[in-house]
Amino acid sequence: MERTNNRHRNLLPALALGSLGLLVDGGCGDNTAAMASGPLDLIPITDINPAPDVVEVKLVATVGQTKYLDTGPAAIWGYGDGAKAGAGAIVPGPLIEARQGDTVIVHFTNHLPEPTTVHWHGVRVSNAADGTHATQHQVPTGGTFDYQFSVPDAGTFWYHPHVRSDVQIERGLHGMLIVRGGPAIPVAADRAFVLDDVKLDGAGRLSEVTDSTDLMLGRQGNVTLANGRADGSITVKNGARERWRFVNAANGRYFSLRLPGHRFTVIGWDGGILPEPYSADTVLISPGERYEVLVDLARPPQDALALETIYYFRAHGMTFVEPEAVLRIDFAGQAAAPGSLPTVWGEAPDVAVDQNTRVRNLILGEQTATGGGADPRFLINGASFPNVPPIAATSGDVEIWSVKNDTEMDHPFHLHGMFFKVLDVDGVAPSHDGWKDTVNIKHPNTLRFAVRYGAAGRWMYHCHILEHAELGMMAELVLAPKQ
Ligand code: C2O
Ligand code: CU
Repeated sequence: MERTNNRHRNLLPALALGSLGLLVDGGCGDNTAAMASGPLDLIPITDINPAPDVVEVKLVATVGQTKYLDTGPAAIWGYGDGAKAGAGAIVPGPLIEARQGDTVIVHFTNHLPEPTTVHWHGVRVSNAADGTHATQHQVPTGGTFDYQFSVPDAGTFWYHPHVRSDVQIERGLHGMLIVRGGPAIPVAADRAFVLDDVKLDGAGRLSEVTDSTDLMLGRQGNVTLANGRADGSITVKNGARERWRFVNAANGRYFSLRLPGHRFTVIGWDGGILPEPYSADTVLISPGERYEVLVDLARPPQDALALETIYYFRAHGMTFVEPEAVLRIDFAGQAAAPGSLPTVWGEAPDVAVDQNTRVRNLILGEQTATGGGADPRFLINGASFPNVPPIAATSGDVEIWSVKNDTEMDHPFHLHGMFFKVLDVDGVAPSHDGWKDTVNIKHPNTLRFAVRYGAAGRWMYHCHILEHAELGMMAELVLAPKQ
């Protein structure tokens, strides 16, 4: 069991707390290994249940304020820790941490001015806890809903609304859920970063303007954020090996991360630790995806570096932009030599297919706005949600989905409630293996994945560019129980 964690005793600067106006001591953990520290740590939620294998929390969604820029506060919607008196909305929401196999109970209260739900992205929850329109009624203003599920997989997950997600997630409703477990990896720090961007006006407020480019390509902001901060920094030691977990919570922006002079060792994807880590100069993270990397930091003391996101061509007509800093890395001091890495990592996805495996063919399409103020539509097999016929299948069966991107832009394709294994892209097998629940499908490729269907119920699949999902690129997989 890996014990490095992000629970911390450092107090966050008031800036990051927005309207919270309350300093929080999150240092209740049993810290037996080096802790990540610094102003960018996520704030852990309070576990109100003393049982070691139950994480029980009170989560609220409410309106609040945060300061993305020095120019002024932005009105936000965010999650808060309902167990803390007076706790308000923070962006990102509080960090929920559990251990593999735990039961998670979330008492959710909606204090937003509109209905919402909470979806546990990537977690193989029971269908009733999936937080979509297919599994529950929307939680009205002032209403409550209890989510209860177990967390069978170690990895980096996240939570967010599944109602008007393009608006609600953009306003700040998203948080990370880390399930600890898997091989012990000796690191000087295990840090978690929620990547996002926001479109701010000159006064530092969230822009209310949604233009046709936002709808067509997915809204990209003008300010990138790491853990809700535009100017975030961490302090590291020369020679240290750190583990960094990333989720891309942005509506439309792809992060293509690079740390000049360094390489990443990619150790994990959506579904947890990979069977074989690999080394990479850049890590492309499309909306909804998670990546975990190790980085061996090497710079003299007093040096500083930026973790950057570099240009990635994901849509027809996207113009070149220079690299943008996501996070500043300050070097101070010298670390002891890192311990040795595990010899056994994760398990390879065990889903086998042959020529008799049933294939589901999906074509992603788009319909540009036809004038007269009409919005563009995004299509699956020629139809828009909710008119896409559901895929009807049986829990436990193995099938292949062949998804053809017939549009002029990439789409990050997400399936709820289960993981899949990518088989090939235009017939070419990928160079790395691991479980995914969200995968970028470049235009004009056809990507095939194999999936062993999970629990019975109604599971959504959709593009995770949130404007695309809300404009129709979304549908259901309906699984009947195995006879
Ligand atoms: Cu991140 Cu339908 O989900
Ligand atoms: Cu899309």
